[in-house]
Amino acid sequence: MLCRSFFALALLVVSGVAAFAQGLPPWSIWTNQRGSLMKVFAIDGQGNFTGVYINNAQGFRCQGPPGFPLTGHTRGTAVTFTVVWNNGIQNCNSKTIWNGVVRGKVMPTKWVLISAGPPQRGADLFTRLP
Ligand code: BTN
Repeated sequence: MLCRSFFALALLVVSGVAAFAQGLPPWSIWTNQRGSLMKVFAIDGQGNFTGVYINNAQGFRCQGPPGFPLTGHTRGTAVTFTVVWNNGIQNCNSKTIWNGVVRGKVMPTKWVLISAGPPQRGADLFTRLP
């Protein structure tokens, strides 16, 4: 009986840790504090993924739908993704690279925006939409 309770407890702890350490879910949608949307499509066996980024951040160009293709890579809880701000309709001649970590339903990131001028840096906190 004692042995069974121990294994039940151990299973609970292990599954709890596993759930906590889960990485970027495929087919997930995230929003950040600027109101932008990040849509993650499929993730392949190497951790490469594609998606769409809809930029709604005030003070930046290349806004709104249909959005811009994104490519990224994830390993464990680490995530990096890039948006080249050219979708054939709007071209801002710039790109942004985000680096972050998935912690359950939140993903704090740091980004660098590269354009003709000096690089701009900042932080975005993404939250997963239900
Ligand atoms: C540009 O202005 O050259 C392209 C749009 C850049 C949008 C930036 S990327 C980092 C920050 N987070 C967002 O969701 N949008 C802005």
